[in-house]
Amino acid sequence: MAFEIRATGRAVPPRRVTNQDLADRVDTTDEWIKSHTGIGARHIADEGIACSDLAFQAAEAALSQLAETNGESAAMLAADLDLIILATTSADYIGVPSTACVLQDKLGARNAAAFDITACCTGLVYALEIAAGLLAMNVHRKRALVIGSELLSRITDWSDRGSCVLFGDGAAAIILEKTDAPREGAGRRGLIQSILHADGSGAQALFVQGGGTRDPFKAGEVLTKQPHLIMDGRIVYNFAVKALTSTIEELLQADGITIDAVRWIIPHQANARIVNAAQKRLGISDDKLYLNIEEYANTSAASIGIALDELNRAHRIAQGDLVMLVGFGAGLTYGGSLIVW
Ligand code: UT7
Repeated sequence: MAFEIRATGRAVPPRRVTNQDLADRVDTTDEWIKSHTGIGARHIADEGIACSDLAFQAAEAALSQLAETNGESAAMLAADLDLIILATTSADYIGVPSTACVLQDKLGARNAAAFDITACCTGLVYALEIAAGLLAMNVHRKRALVIGSELLSRITDWSDRGSCVLFGDGAAAIILEKTDAPREGAGRRGLIQSILHADGSGAQALFVQGGGTRDPFKAGEVLTKQPHLIMDGRIVYNFAVKALTSTIEELLQADGITIDAVRWIIPHQANARIVNAAQKRLGISDDKLYLNIEEYANTSAASIGIALDELNRAHRIAQGDLVMLVGFGAGLTYGGSLIVW
């Protein structure tokens, strides 16, 4: 039994905000943002767009891609989905209902169980492993839609130059299918290794202030700021370099391979410096690492999926290629997956 990626999709809002656009509003410069993060722009959703709307666009793109290969209609494929798992930190509602349920209705995926997970920027990696586990558990489940969708612009403190320059909006979708291919040995395919970690002692390094049960809104209260991300950049940076490095090492070790066997490493796109530091420590060549942070900034649970979809649609992943996804972020959470394409 294997768990293979059959299609991918992405959705990015059309409104592109450059570093210079930000510098007109916040005390920052294009030079600072580029040199400290590698970010050149981010895409920001218009008012009225919610997490499920971007998720829907990404899901439709993935379903259409699968429909083209299968010769079925995207609507029929949606109706046939067994599972929808949506990773987000910026849901349509605070907890109830899940954004996955809103998406299920929009897609007409009436046979799919649907729920959200919160594993922040590692969300897509967590969700893929959960999907594979749930497909394995039941003979009747065949196909899962795994989504990372974020409107970080809605939980960004636009007056905090230390964090607001980092984030963007976007969504990505992956269709994971249970097949008869082997998961081990010669001819193995799909998701072959996963590593998931968390270190809750770092929860306060990156969190959303306001609106939860820890700090609920009270009737009559005047809000001076919407709920927003508060980040200790230094702590998250140091954690991220270690997490990225150790996850790559752990995945290689778990599979008994060296970095030479890997075609693509797709890291969470948080900061090009984080990726470059891990790259230097492990001696990874540039051609193995995929970075698109310059265009999209950090889109949390969506970032790895957007990158994967870009590579997939550009036909830059060949059948049999080993692809490594690595996530790290708030929680603190980190982890990775090894996939035979
Ligand atoms: O998914 C995970 C999400 N989070 C992350 O990935 C964040 C991880 N952390 C980082 O990427 C980095 O820590 C940052 C990019 C956030 C900050 O970079 P840094 O090199 O650690 O800068 P810093 O916070 O040490 O600040 C250096 C200077 C400070 O000025 P002084 O005190 O030296 O005069 C800051 O006030 O840069 C200043 N600064 C800025 N200047 C212009 C901070 N933000 C900005 C800004 N524009 N946007």
